Amino acid sequence: MTDTNKVQILIIDLGSQYTEVIRRSLRYLGFRSVVLKPEASLLWINENKPKGIILSGGSASVYEESSPKIPKEILTYNIPILGICFGMQWLAFVHDENSIQAVKEGKSYGPVEINFLQNNDSDLFKGLPKKINAWSSHGDSVRKVPADFRIIATSKNDTVIESMESTSRKLWGVQFHPEVNQTEDDNIILNNFAKNICICEIDYHKEDVIKEIRDNTKQILGDGKAIIGVSGGVDSTALAAILAPALGTNLKAFFIDTGGMRKGEIEKVKNIAVKAGIKLEVIEKYKNKFIENISTTIDAEEKREKFREVYGEVFREVAKDFGATHMIQGTLATDLIESGSLGESELIKTHHNVDLDLGLKEIMPLADFFKFEVRDLAKEFGLEELIAGRQPFPGPGLYLRVVGTPVTLELLEIVREADHDVAEILKKHNLYDSIAQTIVALFGTKTVGVKGDGRVYGYSMIVRTVETTDFMTVKGFYLPKEVCEEISSALAKHPKIVRVMFDWTSKPPATTEFE
Ligand code: XMP
Repeated sequence: MTDTNKVQILIIDLGSQYTEVIRRSLRYLGFRSVVLKPEASLLWINENKPKGIILSGGSASVYEESSPKIPKEILTYNIPILGICFGMQWLAFVHDENSIQAVKEGKSYGPVEINFLQNNDSDLFKGLPKKINAWSSHGDSVRKVPADFRIIATSKNDTVIESMESTSRKLWGVQFHPEVNQTEDDNIILNNFAKNICICEIDYHKEDVIKEIRDNTKQILGDGKAIIGVSGGVDSTALAAILAPALGTNLKAFFIDTGGMRKGEIEKVKNIAVKAGIKLEVIEKYKNKFIENISTTIDAEEKREKFREVYGEVFREVAKDFGATHMIQGTLATDLIESGSLGESELIKTHHNVDLDLGLKEIMPLADFFKFEVRDLAKEFGLEELIAGRQPFPGPGLYLRVVGTPVTLELLEIVREADHDVAEILKKHNLYDSIAQTIVALFGTKTVGVKGDGRVYGYSMIVRTVETTDFMTVKGFYLPKEVCEEISSALAKHPKIVRVMFDWTSKPPATTEFE
């Protein structure tokens, strides 16, 4: 999707989960960028003359034979370079092989308080307070900075070098991750780098995006016909709304009733489609097949696979009937990163809609985008009330929220009702809109409870509320005590529920969904 001629910043992907997040943060600041593997970077630099280079993080160690090989020539171009995490370690190592602490002593995963030195006079940190909370995730660290570099930030009482800059060249390294939301710098660090150090001009405007998505998709589709599965969630619905007027009868939009939907979901999706101008076919006949297939396992990955099998079968049938040549997917960057399909990052979990091998050509117009950007696009269509404010709901839906015991119609119904009850309570307390996602799951290991005067051997419900904008990292959203009590007593009214647990773990180490 990117018009590489206009791109001013090159991001060299060294395998981090956060590489696309760097790109997103730059776009948020108004700068286009392109992500390339190290081996493709030199040619591109020579042809495109970028104004800045960012080296992403990565999970390797610089001294390992198999670690990404960044061409050293990039140091000779006089283009400003910012190395993040592994990128900073490479910058140190390439100048002094003894600079890296190979042992995992400096290990740090999660929040860290950054202390800026030198009175913040580094161009990279202009405008920041003396200390900020940041997010870091690294094993190795820089033990001493090479000659010609100075330390400009530390953490943990100056025991960890968090940032360095060259005293004679335009080279910077940061050990923490300025690109993620948990780093509380208001995007000042990346803005300082792009705007003030690289002197990039703003070259990304939201108005262009819708036209670009339509034009590019039309061009790829040519005379072909495309199908799009609409889930009623932000991504696929916004995309169908964007493309419906542009593709006309060459587009077929359909909704699959999987049997794992929230209460009242199907009616809601139908209404949304009407308001968004999408002609939507609802396919109901596969409902039983989904549950029969998924209930054969309790393993999270296998459940996703089983869901995917039936999901793929429906797509194949719809495609055949419509004579489709292409499939349009609302897949986001997050899905691709976590499925290990983008760049070098590792598989975290299978997504039911990524790499479906249907024999159709896939078009993923939102593959560069993150959730909050798609919400913005939805707003352009006046869909904010309908979808932009709705909490996301995964394709495999409630099937992922019956945990540790085979899914049955009865358990699905308990989770469906519980999900509805919790949402209503959160709305009543004006909390629902402040929470990025609420997950209500049934925990399949039975425990002893007491109701009335009798012993009950029943299930537990888990309520998980989180805050985040991009779902790459999340923080638990703490509910007030009285709301917890209200939820707890509402859910425990069900004769088979004896216990209600609240889960506010961050991601990492957890993920957002319960399985
Ligand atoms: P995780 O659990 O990966 O969730 O932190 C991030 C976001 O993705 C949703 N999610 C899924 N969506 N199929 C989907 O379409 C899936 O298998 C799946 N697993 C998680 C999750 O609900 C959250 O919004």
